[in-house]
Amino acid sequence: MSAPLLKLTNVCKSYGTTDVLTDISLEVRPGEVLCLLGDNGAGKSTLIKVLSGFHEPTSGTLEIGGAPASFKSPRDASAHGIATVHQFGGTFPLMSIGRSFFVGAEPTKGWGPLKRFDRKYAGEVAVREMRALGITRVTDGDRLVGGLSGGERQALAIGRAVYFGANVLILDEPTAALGVKEATHVLRIIMQARQKGIAVILVTHNVTHAMTVGDHFAVLIRGALAADFRKGERTREEITDLMAGGEAMAELEAEIETYQREHAGHVPDPSELERRTHPKQTG
Ligand SMILES: Nc1ncnc2c1ncn2[C@@H]1O[C@H](COP(=O)(O)OP(=O)(O)O)[C@@H](O)[C@H]1O
Ligand SMILES: [Mg+2]
Repeated sequence: MSAPLLKLTNVCKSYGTTDVLTDISLEVRPGEVLCLLGDNGAGKSTLIKVLSGFHEPTSGTLEIGGAPASFKSPRDASAHGIATVHQFGGTFPLMSIGRSFFVGAEPTKGWGPLKRFDRKYAGEVAVREMRALGITRVTDGDRLVGGLSGGERQALAIGRAVYFGANVLILDEPTAALGVKEATHVLRIIMQARQKGIAVILVTHNVTHAMTVGDHFAVLIRGALAADFRKGERTREEITDLMAGGEAMAELEAEIETYQREHAGHVPDPSELERRTHPKQTG
């Protein structure tokens, strides 16, 4: 196994008196997909904000390529090769595809007072890079990003990160708003990035998507690392259980089964379940 590209040691993040992340230690390796799993509010986005330079950790350390690193801003993180694609591709709907691809790094033509954004070049590169990711329907870089589908926007953002030489690519729920076909395409693009030796951190709720492309899995529960395992070490059921807070679901299933046994297979209504699960609070 290769040396970690990114290493977190005992990272904590609090907002005031609220501890959102506690003691997160993780290693991210080149050419691997790390799936970050967890229920809503578990702290996934907060962890990503720490990794992408939006927030500094309250305590704990980050290392990149074996050297200590600290990010004061998102610019710092991207200078270290960390690219983050926020949900919905993080793009601006009213920007052209070409400009969006180069935002913050605009190519120019001309010189001095005549220097201006090279629209044609930007559009051509953006279209070419999207084509390399299998997006063939987009042929005009002057079109607005708002006209792209969700999957195409993800491809634009991922293509951009790869083009500018990211070695860690962070994707926050890239498939959440997509249909099956588009989600599959985005997963293919993730595999392409992985093949290039990029370390991918994929945040997802979808266990199927995670199991399809993941090499390494980390499950967050209430801000703590509840599990950290590699492909093949856990079954789908175990992963689903971990994500759903396991015990709560098992309890609900047992309640339904008991009721069905006692009531000729009928399904209990919600108030009946509530009475059984919390007998002292009702009735
Ligand atoms: N700026 C903030 N101030 C206070 N609490 C926050 C802030 N940002 C997030 N939180 C809290 O941190 C917890 C984790 O949030 P988040 O990282 O967004 O979770 P996830 O992405 O896993 O759904 C939540 O309880 C959320 O309310
Ligand atoms: Mg989130």
